[in-house]
Amino acid sequence: DASDIEKGTYPHYMLKEIDEQPLVMRKIIQKYQNDQGELTIDQEIIDAMNDADRIYIIAAGTSYHAGLVGKQFIEKMAKIPVEVHISSEFGYNMPLLSEKPLFIFITQSGETADSRAVLVQVKEMGYKSITITNVQGSTLSREADHTLLLHAGPEIAVASTKAYTAQIAVLAILAEVTAKSRGIELDFDLIHELGMIANAMEVLCDEKEEFESIAREFLTVTRNAFFIGRGIDYYVGLEGALKLKEISYIQAEGFAGGELKHGTIALIEEGTPIIAIATQESVNLGIRGNVKEVTARGANPCIISMKGLESEGDTFIIPEVHELLTPLISVLPLQLISYYAALHRDCDVDKPRNLAKSVTVE
Ligand code: G6P
Repeated sequence: DASDIEKGTYPHYMLKEIDEQPLVMRKIIQKYQNDQGELTIDQEIIDAMNDADRIYIIAAGTSYHAGLVGKQFIEKMAKIPVEVHISSEFGYNMPLLSEKPLFIFITQSGETADSRAVLVQVKEMGYKSITITNVQGSTLSREADHTLLLHAGPEIAVASTKAYTAQIAVLAILAEVTAKSRGIELDFDLIHELGMIANAMEVLCDEKEEFESIAREFLTVTRNAFFIGRGIDYYVGLEGALKLKEISYIQAEGFAGGELKHGTIALIEEGTPIIAIATQESVNLGIRGNVKEVTARGANPCIISMKGLESEGDTFIIPEVHELLTPLISVLPLQLISYYAALHRDCDVDKPRNLAKSVTVE
């Protein structure tokens, strides 16, 4: 409950929760480690993963965006096909299911009615489920067969930040442990990489003035903003756009870089801010081409790239981390830029209009 959690010296819960992310990463590593220093997950959950021929991730809002990243992890590491669905759609528009589906519900609060409605339906159909949640004993946690906890501590700000990165970290661990159980060798040590993530998050949390000035430069007067990326960066762009619209009320949308030319580019005007994310070597040239296309039409590009892939004129360069795990880092600038954009526009950062922390009606 908000009244029990102190903001301390922070002006807003959101800023406090952004700053807690390195700590949450370390807590998750600790909670999911066994005595031998290996990542571990309840064997029944791993068995359920291995029994499935297809995994269906069901979620809403920010949790849905974490699910998109989770799909990449489970498919690339554990080699199980994954579909990600918005819970409010899945309920009445269920796709043709595979023979042995497993359902993973991602929900910070564990109380989202749209997600719960799907859980009730798939339980009736006799399917197994896992809930990934921040709240032990929450409705979706109680009603699913298994629960994986986020260990992020209470999240009070309506705009989700530390729960998103916690969801991604737990999904990475789930993918890694499942991969190992299937005899799949990974060429990196996830515990080590998540430790590097925590360090990189700390570096970004110390750069607040930088993000405040980026927000001032790009988002003070604009009426809209577009986020572009390719692959995993596209998914982070969707989350960046959601953060910005939730708290600053700037109309923001995330697009796949290559899709812009098929319509959206018509919206580009002189000075339209385009926030481009470039953390993936395989699509670095492609996304930079997209930046050129919009810049040629008057857009004001804000490029967030990763060390090793940077180009002259990039707005901010994040520290280098493992290419699969970049969403854990690239989202921080977007969270902080949104925060400052909202602040500069005198918005109620922690309690934006029309939104609730958990939506318990369908
Ligand atoms: C609400 C919140 C969002 C959140 C979504 C899903 O709409 O405002 O921030 O992402 O619900 O919530 P959940 O608790 O299921 O993750």
